[in-house]
Amino acid sequence: MLKKAAILGTGYYVPEKVLTNFDLEKIMDTNDEWITTRSGIKERHLSEKDQPTSDLAFRAGEKAIVSAGLKNADIDFVIICTVTGDYTWPATGNVVVERLGINGVPSMDLSAACSGFIYGLTVARAFVETGLYKNILLIGAEEFTKIVDWTDRSTCVLFGDGAGAVVIGQSRGDGGEILSTYLASDGSKVKYLLQPGGGVVHPINQETIDKKLQFAQMNGKEVFKNAVTKMPEALEKAIKLAGINIDDLDYFIFHQANKRIIDAIAERFKVPEEKLIVNIQRYANTSAATIPIALAEAVEQGKIKKGHLIGFSALGAGFTWGGAVVRM
Ligand code: UT7
Repeated sequence: MLKKAAILGTGYYVPEKVLTNFDLEKIMDTNDEWITTRSGIKERHLSEKDQPTSDLAFRAGEKAIVSAGLKNADIDFVIICTVTGDYTWPATGNVVVERLGINGVPSMDLSAACSGFIYGLTVARAFVETGLYKNILLIGAEEFTKIVDWTDRSTCVLFGDGAGAVVIGQSRGDGGEILSTYLASDGSKVKYLLQPGGGVVHPINQETIDKKLQFAQMNGKEVFKNAVTKMPEALEKAIKLAGINIDDLDYFIFHQANKRIIDAIAERFKVPEEKLIVNIQRYANTSAATIPIALAEAVEQGKIKKGHLIGFSALGAGFTWGGAVVRM
């Protein structure tokens, strides 16, 4: 009989360096009041120049493996959810496998931007439930601060660096079971959020660099509009698939892109503030890493406990979006 897949362990890592809104005021035409009221962000963590995404991923991943009561050698698949990998190719997963000392283990990157972790959760769940792999290290890791245009105040102030990780394995019967996952995408919205340069449409050359196509570009209003409709939709689908009601959920972990998006979804479902896991004020938007960082941090703080029902939802570039329900 197929066993249910479960989250066996969690971990996160953010780089030491902190950049506050007040620091930003000194280097560009912005202010703490605008950033706080429009997004809820107060500060973000910045990776060092010589600290690649694989380093954040490795550190978060190691913690998740320990938290699962496993050794690096027990991991038989590594998935890194990222759109800011060390290289365009090969996959950052390859670098992480080397850092973990488990060369030979298959690895890959998964590109679904801010929904990456929910996509990864779905893939890892399927691998485990079909018996293909036993212990999958699933990491959301991003360094957006290295691909934003630091002269574009409408995007650069919103992002931070970090990594969150989980180990997905067969349920041990003591919690962590993934009850449902739901995914969707819409390619007509590619233009609203993307890094246009560096692919084959706009290869790196002097012309594309002069046009600043190597940087992340975002139409904030379009992303916002879609987030506040698609994220609740995805959560509803995941809840239905899990066979539960919204009131059964103990905590909600939404992608941390904007506190106003989180509040709009909470308002729609009449979710009280104390059921929301929110850390955007300290980390900003770390894309595929926001959900696993929030999860691991809430577990570490003792807020999320065994048996709690958690609802997840995210929307990201593509657009991609999705939802999930887990019983911790
Ligand atoms: O993870 C998925 C990716 N991202 C998202 O989900 C983000 C979704 N979108 C958003 O969160 C919001 O749309 C933003 C936070 C990006 C923007 O909020 P907004 O309320 O839509 O602001 P806006 O773009 O309408 O900008 C309003 C004003 C403009 O000035 P004018 O033209 O009204 O005079 C901007 O120039 O705010 C100005 N502005 C700034 N002012 C100070 C834009 N960025 C800044 C800034 N500091 N950093």
